Amino acid sequence: KDLSRITDIADLQRVARRRVPRMFYDYADSGAWTESTYRANESDFQKIRFRQRVAVDMEGRSLATQMIGQDVSMPVALAPTGLTGMQHADGEMLAAQAAADFGVPFTLSTMSICSIEDVARHTRKPFWFQLYVMRDRGFIEDLIGRARDAGCSALMLTLDLQILGQRHKDIKNGLSAPPKPTLANLIDLVTKPRWCMGMLGTPRRTFGNIVGHAKGVKDISSLSSWTAEQFDPKLSWADIEWIKRTWGGKLILKGILDEEDARMAADSGADALVVSNHGGRQLDGAMSSIEALPGIAEAVGRDIEVWMDGGIRSGQDVLKAWALGARGTLIGRPFLYGLGAFGQEGVRRALEIIHKEADITMALCGRKNLSQVDRSVLLPGAF
Ligand code: FNR
Repeated sequence: KDLSRITDIADLQRVARRRVPRMFYDYADSGAWTESTYRANESDFQKIRFRQRVAVDMEGRSLATQMIGQDVSMPVALAPTGLTGMQHADGEMLAAQAAADFGVPFTLSTMSICSIEDVARHTRKPFWFQLYVMRDRGFIEDLIGRARDAGCSALMLTLDLQILGQRHKDIKNGLSAPPKPTLANLIDLVTKPRWCMGMLGTPRRTFGNIVGHAKGVKDISSLSSWTAEQFDPKLSWADIEWIKRTWGGKLILKGILDEEDARMAADSGADALVVSNHGGRQLDGAMSSIEALPGIAEAVGRDIEVWMDGGIRSGQDVLKAWALGARGTLIGRPFLYGLGAFGQEGVRRALEIIHKEADITMALCGRKNLSQVDRSVLLPGAF
């Protein structure tokens, strides 16, 4: 497929909006309540300006680096996203493969459609597994064991979803996987034949890590009722310590927005933390991620690898985050739009676009590799 006329992430978003059933497109393109934090994640990047430099040697550039000691072709990983297999049939498997081909990590969400085992069978490279803490500790141990057996090379523990933030569109759309056969859904699906054909060819239509694995769970369709019952509102740093011991491998803590929490994360002995507000989907009115990043990087960046996610829509944003102290980034919606639009090739295209933008930007700032990129590539003042 020739995707050369797809030149930015917004192009992928436009195609995804046409091809993905309304409730799943909306699930991706939404934030909590007024969506002010969701919007600020993106718009705050625009406040940051680069310093253009000229007549410096910019031949032989590379964006390669490491995240938690693992080689990456650029400091970008695919963020864990629930219901990814509803953006496109077999979505998690396709995204994992695209990431592996590109040399960046893929993170599988607890709330995925394809199971840990499905993804492991389908990809050559180890991927990361994202864990939500549920009340049933036996089930958590079981998930950790399955991630270990599948060869996952890091566990990403998400801390900012002890209870589910409210997203209006999901409530109004009656979000469920698979979609319920209501008249509105059927009318919508008739206009999305490509998506429907894909789904007919795959057996995976519900939460593969959970249904048939968690005790007594034969069926869940609604994300919100399951999370309300199962996610643990009592999660504490003692639980994090227990999970760290039970897992025993590389650990990433995701969902930190406050410097005090960042200090606790650094003291926990985790390998990395992700400055994140869950893509604006949890606490509406919270700080944007890029605004929170510099303070946290300053406070704990010497003790733990600091990463960020939220609002990255171009390679320029990746470079801005790096310059402000992030040693890695995650992208959520950019790859989901690529996936919904064109499947595996769309995810690859999203990564190519971001890589190209970061590379050209780095060159025009007069730098050849990331070790030369720091705050001095930015004009002072924004954050
Ligand atoms: C998410 N996010 C998320 N995070 C997580 O730890 N587990 C999950 O299951 C999900 N699910 C999820 C679904 C969808 C549709 C989105 C958009 C996001 C949050 C995600 O990992 C990441 O923090 C944000 O997506 C980053 O923001 P951008 O890149 O989407 O702006």
